[in-house]
Amino acid sequence: MANILIIVGTESGNAQMCADHLSDNLPRLGHEIEVASDADAGSVDLSGRDVALVITSTHGDGELPDNIIPLADRLRGDAPDLSHLRYGVIALGDQTYQATFCKAGKDMDSLLGACGASKVGERLEIDACTQPLPDEEALNWAQEWVTML
Ligand SMILES: Cc1cc2nc3c(=O)[nH]c(=O)nc-3n(C[C@H](O)[C@H](O)[C@H](O)COP(=O)(O)O)c2cc1C
Repeated sequence: MANILIIVGTESGNAQMCADHLSDNLPRLGHEIEVASDADAGSVDLSGRDVALVITSTHGDGELPDNIIPLADRLRGDAPDLSHLRYGVIALGDQTYQATFCKAGKDMDSLLGACGASKVGERLEIDACTQPLPDEEALNWAQEWVTML
């Protein structure tokens, strides 16, 4: 059983919807889920955490959602030692933004890795154009992902 902190970066709610779906369904597989969204995601403390799952969309021209920018800034600026942390990333994007597809998820992935955290599994990238049910995509992926923890 894992205690998983889901960190949500969202502008219009799709990433939150994914987090809510995981939060509703992963506990029955024996996992404890906590969700940090809105302002909580920016101020989240990763020092005492074992497992984190970042679910973030990309906005603007490859930018992070506003609510998660403070966390990214802290990781970039302070470079905390996160060698105790295992993490996964679900990136929401849209393929029509070719040059910046899922860039925020990719950036969070790089930042966590640069702080010494260990990635579990491959990042999931969900394309809003071709995958209209992001919460189902996320849950299918997460059910496999938790078996690797
Ligand atoms: C104004 C705007 C800018 C966007 N920019 C990007 C982008 O640069 N790259 C990308 O992959 N997706 C981009 N998207 C697509 C969103 O990431 C996608 O629709 C996602 O599902 C939104 O999730 P959210 O509701 O959690 O914010 C953009 C969407 C909007 C509305």
